[in-house]
Amino acid sequence: MEGQTWLAERIAPQRPFDNLEALIEAFYAAANTMTEAEKMILITSHPDLAGKAAIDGLLSATSQQEQAAAGLDRLTPIEYDTFHQRNAAYKQTFGFPFVICARENTKISILMAFEARLQNSRSQEIETGMNEVLKILRLRLLDLVQK
Ligand code: GUN
Repeated sequence: MEGQTWLAERIAPQRPFDNLEALIEAFYAAANTMTEAEKMILITSHPDLAGKAAIDGLLSATSQQEQAAAGLDRLTPIEYDTFHQRNAAYKQTFGFPFVICARENTKISILMAFEARLQNSRSQEIETGMNEVLKILRLRLLDLVQK
């Protein structure tokens, strides 16, 4: 989601917001009116969990912290391999990356979510992925104002 300034620009005309919850609500409302192509931009802007960028140290500081919060910076080689396989299977099935709010999960719950969500339809996964994008956004906004 980094670099996706159009999302903030879309709700900027509604400023000033009364409080943080009002700002978050505006993001949720904007998400509800997005086209599928716009949702895809947000979903695909998230790096794979325990993916190549993470292994090569190429994540942004924010992404790195989010993945570390779920313990994904401390995987065994076999666990990295499992994540690689699940990321690939998910992308092969739906055509976009698996997004789950890493900070609200552990490596075990993420692996379980891969299995469960692979059973869903593509449209269900676009909705689930967007819900997770919004959870990630909400936690990032909370961090920003609490600093
Ligand atoms: N890719 C899938 N989930 C996440 C997440 O919570 N944060 C980041 N940065 N990338 C992700």
